[in-house]
Amino acid sequence: MNQELEKLKKQATEAIQKAASTATLTELDVRYLGRKGELTNMLRTLKDLPENERKKAGQALNAAKNELEQAFAHKRATLEKTALEASLKQEFFDITLPGTLRGHAIGTVHVLSQLQEEAERIFSQMGFMIVDGPEIESEYYNFESLNIPADHPARDMQDTFFIKQKRDASHGRLVLRTHTSPNQVRALEKYGAPIRMIVPGRVFRNEATDARHEHTFNQIEGMLIDKDISIATLKGIMKEFLSRLFGKEVEVRFRPGYFPFVEPGLELDFSCLLCESKGCRVCKNTGWVEFMGSGMTHENVLRASGVDPKIYQGWAFGFGLERLAMMRYGINDIRLFNGGDLRFIKQF
Ligand code: DAH
Repeated sequence: MNQELEKLKKQATEAIQKAASTATLTELDVRYLGRKGELTNMLRTLKDLPENERKKAGQALNAAKNELEQAFAHKRATLEKTALEASLKQEFFDITLPGTLRGHAIGTVHVLSQLQEEAERIFSQMGFMIVDGPEIESEYYNFESLNIPADHPARDMQDTFFIKQKRDASHGRLVLRTHTSPNQVRALEKYGAPIRMIVPGRVFRNEATDARHEHTFNQIEGMLIDKDISIATLKGIMKEFLSRLFGKEVEVRFRPGYFPFVEPGLELDFSCLLCESKGCRVCKNTGWVEFMGSGMTHENVLRASGVDPKIYQGWAFGFGLERLAMMRYGINDIRLFNGGDLRFIKQF
C-alpha cells in the first residue's frame, strides 16, 4: 500500500506541475480526487486492511490527499495569474483616462413626482399645507369614518387588498387605502378646524388593469374647512390651480356626482386643452375633460372628525395624478407609469 501510494503521489504531482491549462487541471482533479478517483478508491479499500494497519494507512492516505489538494490550488492560482498577466499585456489599458469621459448616466425625477411637486408648490402658494398619511389604512378611516358603512354599495367600487390580520374591534381590518380621503378625517382629528390642506399619495384598488386602470396609482386630496365656505371657493381655487399648472387660462364646470362623504357631491371637469374645447378624441368631442370628485363635506364626516358642523363647513376634492399627466403629455396607457420602461421614463 505504501509503495502504491508513493507512486500515485509522485505521478499526480508531476502531472499537476505539467498542466498547462485550468481545464487539464480539472481533469486531473477528477482523475485523482474525484468520486471515482484513484486516491479515493484507495481510501475505500481501507476497510479491508487488518485492524493494526488501518490507522496508519488512513493517516498516510489523508496526508496525501491534503498534499494533492494544496498542489491543485497552488497550480490553479499560478495559471490564473499567468493568464491575467498575458491578457493585460495584450490589451492596452490607459489608467490615466478620466472616468467621466463616457459620461455618467444621470437619473431623472419621475414624471409623476414632477407633477406632484408642481401641484404642491401651487397649493402651498395658495395657503394649503401638505399632509402625509399611511398607505396601509384601517377599514375605519378608509370607509366608515367617510360615511361608507360595511354594507354600503360604494364599497364595491373600491375593492382593495386586505392585510391578513385580526380585525380590530373599533377600527376593523387593515387595507391598502383605496383613496387619499381617509386623511380628511386624520388631519381634522390632528389639526382641527379651520384647515386648508392637500394630501398627495399612492392608493390601491383590486382592479383588472387596462389602458385606463391600474391597481396602484396616485391621488391628491384637498380639503378646506372654515366658516362661510361655499362651492364658489372650490370653483375659484380649482380654476386657479389648473390655470397655473397649465400656464394658461383654464375653465372648470361642475356636474352632479355621488360620493358618500360629500353632500352635495360634484364632478369637476376642465376645458380640453388639446383642442381648445373644439372637440377631440381626448375630450370625446365634448370640449371637457373629467377631472375629479368633490363636494361639500358631509356632516357625518365632520362629526366623525370631532368638528362641529354648525360652526364649520367646507369642501373636499380628490383627483388622480396619472390622469392629469396623461392629459398633459398625451400619454395613452396608464400602465406606462409603473412599467419601469426606461424609454418611457427618460422622456421627462
Ligand atoms: N376619494 C374619491 C375617489 O377616490 C375621490 C373624491 C371624491 C375625493 C369626492 C373627495 C371628494 O375628497 O370630495 O374616487
